[in-house]
Amino acid sequence: MLELVNMSKRFKQFYAVKNLNMFIERGEIVGLLGPNGAGKSTAISMLSSLIEPTTGDVRLNNKSVVKNPVPLREVIGIVPQEIALYNDLTAEENLQFFGRIYRLKGDERKQKIDEVLKQIGLTEKRKEVVKKFSGGMKRRLNIGVALLHDPELIIMDEPTVGIDPQSRNYILETVKRLNKEKQMTVLYTSHYMEEVEFLCDRIYIMDRGNLIASGTKEEIKRILSSEKTIVIKTGQLNDEFLNTLKQEPTIRRVMAEEKMVKVIVPKEVNIFRTVLKVAESTGIELNSVDSKTATLEDVFLHLTGRALRD
Ligand SMILES: Nc1ncnc2c1ncn2[C@@H]1O[C@H](COP(=O)(O)OP(=O)(O)OP(=O)(O)O)[C@@H](O)[C@H]1O
Ligand SMILES: [Mg+2]
Repeated sequence: MLELVNMSKRFKQFYAVKNLNMFIERGEIVGLLGPNGAGKSTAISMLSSLIEPTTGDVRLNNKSVVKNPVPLREVIGIVPQEIALYNDLTAEENLQFFGRIYRLKGDERKQKIDEVLKQIGLTEKRKEVVKKFSGGMKRRLNIGVALLHDPELIIMDEPTVGIDPQSRNYILETVKRLNKEKQMTVLYTSHYMEEVEFLCDRIYIMDRGNLIASGTKEEIKRILSSEKTIVIKTGQLNDEFLNTLKQEPTIRRVMAEEKMVKVIVPKEVNIFRTVLKVAESTGIELNSVDSKTATLEDVFLHLTGRALRD
């Protein structure tokens, strides 16, 4: 349906996106994953013809969007990363305003607004002004605006950042439902592995402007098929413990969080004794050492040596 071909965006000397190749098939939920500054929003802006690529092309059903963006604008709905709503208007008035921009007329507009309010669970709040809304409700209305003209493809740029877990679950369920019931194609951007893991059929992972992995969830996890992740729960950590672990020849990656360290080692290696020894010599209290199956988060760690949330 939609394809990015060798697309780059340069700001002065700096490449925000470099040689990106991606495709989205009709009916899929595709995840675009990456930490802050990876180039996700820039990629989305090019893909939805909001900014022009420095090089490369976007193709909708094999026709260049860079040459003629009109057909694309008719089929996509965009949920921007920054909330774009009028605070002094009610939920319904916001939808009316954007409905007019999409040139929805009279009864059709009214019907569509009712349907969208139901989809985003804000029917009861339709007469309330947006400035009284919680962050999660604003996010939902932001999604509602993108749904007004029945897009075939919806592009969501980090729609769950900074909201409560309940609203977040609601949004995730809404995305699943739109895909299932309306066969809507979705491009979902996030820096939360678990969201993408829950929602998406296929995943692209970006870091610093580059694509670092792509494929189905299973394919991506297979990157780690020769390795395993060990989770070490500890008392207060210190640098000496981490640095000593990093120098161990059998340990490929080390990632520390508060009172927890993850290390990636080859499948056949038994690391338990080493961890014990290093903890003892550096004065770290060990609470548990467990082996666990790989997550996408681990794949990112493996590929970049950094945690996704950096
Ligand atoms: N208009 C611009 N001018 C100069 N640099 C820019 C511009 N837009 C983005 N950048 C830079 O390009 C890089 C990628 O930014 P982008 O917003 O695409 O990242 P992102 O993956 O969406 O990050 P986040 O998760 O924080 O939203 C960043 O280093 C950013 O500072
Ligand atoms: Mg962004």
